[in-house]
Parts: sequence; C-alpha cells; structure tokens
Amino acid sequence: MAKLTDETRARLKRRSRLVNLGRDAEFSQGFVNVPPFRGSTVLYPDVATLKARAQRFTYGTRGTPTTEALSSAWTDLAGAAGTVLLPSGLAAIVVALMTSLSADDHMLMTDSVYSPARAFANKTLKRMGIETTYYDPTIGAGVAALIKPNTRVVFTESPGSETLEMQDIPAIAEAAHAQGACVIMDNTWATPLFFSPHAHGVDMAVEAGTKYLSGHADLLLGLVSANEAWFERLHACVHLMAIPPGPEDVFLALRGLRTMELRLREAERQALALAQWLAGRPEVKRVIHPALPDHPGHGLWKRDYSGSSGLFSIVLKPASEAAVAAMLDGLELFGLGYSWGGYESLAVPVDCTATRTATRFAPGGPMVRFNAGLEDLEDLKADLDRGFKRLRATV
Ligand SMILES: Cc1ncc(COP(=O)(O)O)c(C=O)c1O
Repeated sequence: MAKLTDETRARLKRRSRLVNLGRDAEFSQGFVNVPPFRGSTVLYPDVATLKARAQRFTYGTRGTPTTEALSSAWTDLAGAAGTVLLPSGLAAIVVALMTSLSADDHMLMTDSVYSPARAFANKTLKRMGIETTYYDPTIGAGVAALIKPNTRVVFTESPGSETLEMQDIPAIAEAAHAQGACVIMDNTWATPLFFSPHAHGVDMAVEAGTKYLSGHADLLLGLVSANEAWFERLHACVHLMAIPPGPEDVFLALRGLRTMELRLREAERQALALAQWLAGRPEVKRVIHPALPDHPGHGLWKRDYSGSSGLFSIVLKPASEAAVAAMLDGLELFGLGYSWGGYESLAVPVDCTATRTATRFAPGGPMVRFNAGLEDLEDLKADLDRGFKRLRATV
C-alpha cells in the first residue's frame, strides 16, 4: 500500500481498489486504517492562510481526513465527479432534492419510491411550492409525456425497495435530459458495485450507506455522488446546510467498504437460493426478485446490472393478518425490523397498496420482504418451514 504508485493505482481492478481506496499509510503514520477524526476547530498557521481558507481542511462540518477518505473512495467506485456524506440515507435523498429544486418547480417521482422520500415530497417540498407527480415505475421512455416546462427532477429508485420494479434508467435519463431535467436515483439496492449509476445517465445517485456499506446494522449514513454537471451545486448545497455524519460512523463505513463486495456477493447467493426455495413452497403465490427470469423487469436487470443484492419480496397465497403474524412472530433467525443490508436475516410484512397514487399495486395476497443474511441456508429454510406451519395452522 505504501508503495502503490499512481500508475499502478490507475490500473487496479475493483477488488484491489476496494482494499486500497482512501488509504494513506504515510498520513496514518503506518497504521492500516485512517482513524476517525473528531473535531470542530481546525487551526491555521497564520492570518493570511486563515483569511484565504488556503488549507486542505478548514472546519469540522466541511470535511475531515476520515470523510475525505470515504467520499473519494465512493467517487471512484460510483464513477462520479464527487461525493458528499450525510448522516442518513434519507438525509442524502433530501440533500439531492434541495440541490436540484426551487419554488414553483415540478418533480416526477416513481410511485415505488421509499415511502419517507414520498412523505418529504408531499409535506416539506409541497410547503415550499414544489409540486410532485408520481409515475408508473415501469414507464421507461414514456416519462417524456409527463415532463412539464417546469419539471426539474425525475426521481428514480430501481428496483423499488419493497416491490422491486426495475426502471429503465437510460431511457428515463434520455427523456429527462432532453427537457433539461436532473435525474436522481436511489441506488441503495444495487450499490455502485452492481449498477454504475452515472454511466447510465444518472446525475445524482443516492446510497443509504446504512445498508450494505455498513453491512452490520450498527450505523446510519447517506452518500450522494454526482456527475460533473451537478457536483459543484451539490457540494455548495450540502455545505450551506452543514449536516455532516458522525466521525465514528464514517470510520465504520470505511471499514465496511473493504468487505462490501464479499458481503454483497454472499447476500446475492443466499437471497437467490432462498428465493428459489420459496418459489417452490405451496404457501407462496409469487417471488419478486429481479434476478429471477419470471420477474417482469428481468431483462432490464440483465442488461444493466452485474449482480443482485439480498433484498427481495414474496407474495403469499391469501391468508389472514393473524396467520401472517403467527408466521413472522415465531421466526427465530429472521429478525422483524426495518432497514436491511446487514449480516443478519430479516423478514417484514409490507403493504404498499394504500400509498400508491399513480399505479394500483394489488399483489393478490400478503407480502413479506426478506433481507438475506449470512446464516447457514439450511437453518434459514428450517426457520421458515416452521413459520409456514404456523401460517397454515392459523386462520
Ligand atoms: C431504498 C432506501 N433508500 C433510503 C433509505 C433511507 O436510509 P436511512 O435509514 O439511512 O435513512 C432506506 C431505508 O430503509 C431505503 O430502504
């Protein structure tokens, strides 16, 4: 690492970059990791430097060696011009929207969006005079017909984190750019390791680092990467708001980065094996996983993605609420809780029939969303098998 030349660094393949990005042995006095820098005040050597802010770090809210290590590594992985860090994934969504929208603007937002992002649009943005129209996530190039003269943002999330519709991001980006609108994507499911957002036309890509970058369900973090056209505006917006993430969280996220590809590949393997097993269960009506050939968006996934993560859903055959609760309440390995992307398996009931406004989502039975963790697959299947017995035994 200490001997890595710029020439070698530029040629490194991704796995080597994941190990080396953001590290500086000389700066870290030989220690392998950049430590969590804590601080508000940054001292200047003299008045002239202070007045000109002519040094690498100027104030605690404006970045530290730890945040710079993570943001520069993420910029490289995402193929971006730059990245800003926020204290949560939702804060990252908010900052991307605050960067690109002003009073009297219009936004198009996918109907499959993470519901707190919808709430921010419907409440805060509405109060600021910004109108949002929801669109069918599978609309593709058809989004062009919904663009108005004041449409400034087309917000995408692919796949949707509950219902997993795939979006045709290049087609949406082409239509949006033709009308001068900015394309924002929530890319948390795939991460830049499985989908390169900016190479597919996304201007600002949001990642809830809380999920796979952390990988251990013990921190909250958001990242927004941007292309050349948007990074300066994004950077200016976030610094005017001064909402940096905590130093310990950034340090842990950097640690997570080193093993992210290994964990993601394993989550992919576990999720696919579980999804295939679930597809054969008599209690399951449908498995919703973009990497399975029967998913309506499978072609888009195959065209644009290099992998799938550990989050997928199933639709159960019609069953009572009590039966689904009996199934989930008794699970011993699958936890019942939101967030995802950690090493532990989760199962949560989801119901988005009431939140949709542009499309009707009627799966024909109760839905359960799974986060595939790293436990032994046979143990996970046995836990679910006992759950299905409880489901069948409850009316
Ligand atoms: C797709 C997606 N985006 C963003 C977020 C928000 O992340 P955070 O929990 O860090 O605010 C979540 C959280 O569940 C999510 O699922």
